[in-house]
Amino acid sequence: MAWGVGCSPQKEELPIYLDDSQAIEARIDDALQRLTLEEKVALCHAQSKFSSPGVPRLGIPELWMNDGPFGVRGEVLYNSWENADTNNDFCTAFPALTVLAATWDPTLAARYGNALGEEARYRRKDVLLAPGLNICRTPLNGRTFEYWGEDPFLTATLAVPYIRGIQKNGVAACVKHFAVNNQEQWRDSVEVEVSDRALREIYFPAFKAAVQDGGAWALMGAYNLLRGEHCCHNDFLLNKVLKEEWGFDGAVISDWGGVHDTKEAAMNGTDIEMGTLKPYEEYYMADSMLALFRRNEVPVARLDDKVRRILRLNMRTAMNRTRPYGSLNSKEHVAVAREVAEQGIVLLKNDAGLLPIDLPKVRSIAVIGENAVRRHAGGGGAAKVKALYEVTPLEGIRARFGDTVRIDYAMGYCSDTPLEDRVVPPQYDNAKLRKEAIALAAVSDVVLFIGGLNHNRYQDSEAFDRESYQLPYGQEQLIEDIFAVNKNVVLVLVSGSPVDLCFAQKLPAIVEGWYCGSESGNALAAVLAGDVNPSGKLPFSFPRKLEDCGAHAFDAKTYPGENLKTTYTEDILVGYRWYDTKGIAPLYAFGYGLSYTKFEYGAPEIDRKTYSKDGIVHLGFDLTNVGDLAGAEVSQVYVSQPGASVMRPAKELKGFAKTYLKKGETKRVEIDLPVKEWAFWDTRTSSWVVEPGEFLIHVGASSDDIKFSVSVNVE
Ligand code: BGC
Repeated sequence: MAWGVGCSPQKEELPIYLDDSQAIEARIDDALQRLTLEEKVALCHAQSKFSSPGVPRLGIPELWMNDGPFGVRGEVLYNSWENADTNNDFCTAFPALTVLAATWDPTLAARYGNALGEEARYRRKDVLLAPGLNICRTPLNGRTFEYWGEDPFLTATLAVPYIRGIQKNGVAACVKHFAVNNQEQWRDSVEVEVSDRALREIYFPAFKAAVQDGGAWALMGAYNLLRGEHCCHNDFLLNKVLKEEWGFDGAVISDWGGVHDTKEAAMNGTDIEMGTLKPYEEYYMADSMLALFRRNEVPVARLDDKVRRILRLNMRTAMNRTRPYGSLNSKEHVAVAREVAEQGIVLLKNDAGLLPIDLPKVRSIAVIGENAVRRHAGGGGAAKVKALYEVTPLEGIRARFGDTVRIDYAMGYCSDTPLEDRVVPPQYDNAKLRKEAIALAAVSDVVLFIGGLNHNRYQDSEAFDRESYQLPYGQEQLIEDIFAVNKNVVLVLVSGSPVDLCFAQKLPAIVEGWYCGSESGNALAAVLAGDVNPSGKLPFSFPRKLEDCGAHAFDAKTYPGENLKTTYTEDILVGYRWYDTKGIAPLYAFGYGLSYTKFEYGAPEIDRKTYSKDGIVHLGFDLTNVGDLAGAEVSQVYVSQPGASVMRPAKELKGFAKTYLKKGETKRVEIDLPVKEWAFWDTRTSSWVVEPGEFLIHVGASSDDIKFSVSVNVE
């Protein structure tokens, strides 16, 4: 019988643990003392691919989990990864989290999280295995598209409302992969060597915010090792930092197959083991863990702590009778997906004003490139979803422009993947495809080249890093050849990670179109047509070449590592922190993105000159839309401390605001900057330190376009 349906006894008969009018901790105490040792251990491991058991004897329900971050993954069979042949699991494919990050809009993040939580709840999931909070250390990481870019502050600021949005539905967010899971190559066995300072300043902050501000109810360990232990049973990460220091009261779930040692898992803070390929009783945290507790080799208090956390998770989700019922594929969900896509698409280049497409003048458009017809939501690994629909770029462009303009399509290149991934049947003859595309380009007014990456192995894909920073499938040469016959080329990149765009600098227009989910084609067409004025800004830098990036500036030890060890030699200088500090100009900087209008920044004002360490700087400036169209601008505030006693990055993001302005309109932008967030991690004292002295506050349109800097004193 389903939990809460027809099985609840009268209220007065309820035992405390089932009585939701009682305090949750009292209910946990009550349940705990009723459980046998065997029942406790059973709670700590999977019973199917995506569920863990409850306690049937006591009416404690199972916990159902599922991926993922951009939509609720389609059902798989109970005991295998094979897709279940169900048809009630088609859902909304939301844009990848990279796109959400590019919106720089916390209110959109809240709506996205809520919509996703509603879909998860409707699909009867208790735990959503999302969001991933890993930082983009290298453009090659195959899972960059699942994350929020290279900056901890941006990631944390957006992840918190997203998590709260999910959990409003009585569905737990399970933040992952804790920690330093920044490459897919050798992900199960690579050990990361990284300083405490880099952990604290770069790789931990989003997790800490997710736990303390987002109130995340679950967290997933990472596959890799840190300091001699796998992250899924890592004393430092899980016991010391997460549970003791940050006060996490939720459950730690292993990544699927991420547990490798029973004793460590028993001791080091793992609460639920998921995903090994063994029979369930042979999991590390099943019979062998039971034996450890029976022999008293590990104190039962360790087990009780796990069980408390699992019961707490259960009471917050599966046992919560007041949670809403959720909904699937609603109008609101589609609207959120569309808005995130429209707000996240980034205009990288628009020299000749080729965009928005000038309809009366343009009579014919050549759409070229495999990604114009390719659907991506069903790929990528754990983040894949069974989208109810996904509008391809070609479909979106035809729907938007088709009546007034002649639109022809040529694939141009072929990525050689299985047939079912494709809408148009593939032609494997790349020479022929290329010839057709060039011929089409030559007779069209404008070329929209829609290429980039995809979710094939060694592209934007779980379990594989990219092998090259270049565009694959001969796209560079093809674009050059097309440009030779038609100068009006707009390159639309469909990708979830930075790619080498130096070759494309001769093109008049470039758009980062991302993986945008169900509404991909419609959102892209709206931006190309100018129905939507682009306002997305990059959540990661595009270096000119791979070696410019901190993770690739040294030897192979820094990436991908040697002898299964990766050393983070660049330390805290990740992303723009590296480029700015080392004076290396990226091609497109963190925070960069153009609009069809122009904005003017007024000089910033602050309320005082001197602040205490726990003070808050109230910064204000005027922002004016001086162009001809309404639009939105993401203003960014970076902070630096030039005279610090330790090395500090040239500047670090500490605040931002997205402002919508009509043509000619001026608004006052106000941003609060708590001084305590300017601290560095002092390795001598293992604590956060705000060092008194001068700080510079920089206001800009991107990390490489600072409009004004003001100096303040901290005492
Ligand atoms: C991934 C996780 C995912 C899990 C379950 C793992 O391979 O790393 O992100 O949640 O599988 O699908």
